[in-house]
Amino acid sequence: MQTILVTGGCGYIGAHTIVDLIQNGFEVISVDNLSRASEHSLQGIEKITGKKIKNYIIDLTSKAATEQIFIDHPNITGIIHFAAYKAVGESVEKPLDYYENNLCSLVHLLQLATQYNAKHFIFSSSCTVYGNPDAIPVTEQTALKTAASPYGATKQMGETIVQDTTLAHSLSGILLRYFNPVGAHPSIAIGELPIGRPQNLVPAITQTAIGKLPKMQVHGNDYATRDGSCIRDYIHVCDIAHAHTLALQYSIKNNQFNHCEIFNLGTGNGITVLEAIQAFEKVSGVQLNYEIGPRRAGDIVAIYANNDHAVKKLGWTCQFDLEEMMRTAWEWEKSLVK
Ligand code: WQD
Repeated sequence: MQTILVTGGCGYIGAHTIVDLIQNGFEVISVDNLSRASEHSLQGIEKITGKKIKNYIIDLTSKAATEQIFIDHPNITGIIHFAAYKAVGESVEKPLDYYENNLCSLVHLLQLATQYNAKHFIFSSSCTVYGNPDAIPVTEQTALKTAASPYGATKQMGETIVQDTTLAHSLSGILLRYFNPVGAHPSIAIGELPIGRPQNLVPAITQTAIGKLPKMQVHGNDYATRDGSCIRDYIHVCDIAHAHTLALQYSIKNNQFNHCEIFNLGTGNGITVLEAIQAFEKVSGVQLNYEIGPRRAGDIVAIYANNDHAVKKLGWTCQFDLEEMMRTAWEWEKSLVK
C-alpha cells in the first residue's frame, strides 16, 4: 500500500481528499495542528470509509517535529500539502504570520520529501495566483498578475518553491489551482466549518438561510457582468478531491522526476453571485434575506477556468452541478444544528 501524507487533513478540502484517496486504495496519514480545523472531520471520514485516520497534531513550521512523521512512516511515497492559512483579509492584517506559516511549512516538507524519498508532491494552489486576468477563461499558461494579497503572494511563491525544488531534486511536482470549492460530501458526514463569520459566499448563504446570520450582503451589483455581480467558477469539493487522487495516480504512473505540472481545477462555468443565490433558493426552497451592498475591496470582477488540461491529462470530469453544490451545502448546514 502506498502511504500518502496529507497535511491539513482535518480541513475542508483535506478531509474530502482523504475520503477519496482511501476509496481509491491509498493508505493515508494526516498532519494538522488544528489551528484552523477540528478532528471532528476524522469522525466523518471514519463514518464514510470505516477507516480511523492517524492525525499528527504537529506545527509544520517545526522541522524537527515534522521529521518525526517521516521517521515513524518510512514508506511515505507522496505528500498532498493543504495546510496553510487562507483568509485573504487576515493576510493583509498579518502578512508575516502568513509568510512564516505558509512558506516555512512548505520548505520543511520539501526538504523532508527529498531526504525521505517521498517522490510525489502535490501542492494546493489557487486561482488567486492569476490576480485580475485580462482574458477569461484562464488557462495554465495565462500570465500571473501581482498577487492582490499576502495570501495570494504565498500561493505564487509556493508554486515557485515547488517548481524550483522539483527541478533540482528527483521529485515530481503537481500544482493544483482550485477555483471556488463549495458544497459537502453527499453523505453529509463532512463539510465546510468556517471559523467565525464566513467570508466566502456559500457558507454566508447557508448561514443566513438557517438563521445563524440575520442577513447577507451581495458585495456590489454594478460590475460589467451580465447581472452586475461578480463571476466565479464554483466547483464541488468532491470534484476537487477526486482530482487529487487522479493527479497522484498520474504522477506515480508517469514517474517523471525533475518535473512540475500545473492543472486548473474549475468547472469551466462562470456563475454570478446572484445566479448562485438563485440556485440556492431553487434547491432549498428558502427565500434568502440579502441586500445589495458596496463592492468588497480586493474582489476581481470575473474569473473562471479553462480546465481542458486536467480533463485531457488526468481523465478528470466534474460530476456535480451548481444545484448539487448548493443542495449538499444546505444539507450540511442543516446537519450542524441537529
Ligand atoms: C466569491 C464572490 C464576493 C461573500 C476566495 C479566495 C480564494 C479561495 C476562495 C482560498 C465574490 C461575493 C462573498 C458574501 C458576497 N480561497 N460574496 N457576499 O473571493 O472568489 O475567493 O475564497 O483558496 O483564494 O480569494 O471567494 O466566496 O469570498 O467570494 O457577495 O457574503 O461572492 O464579493 O464576488 P473569492 P468568496
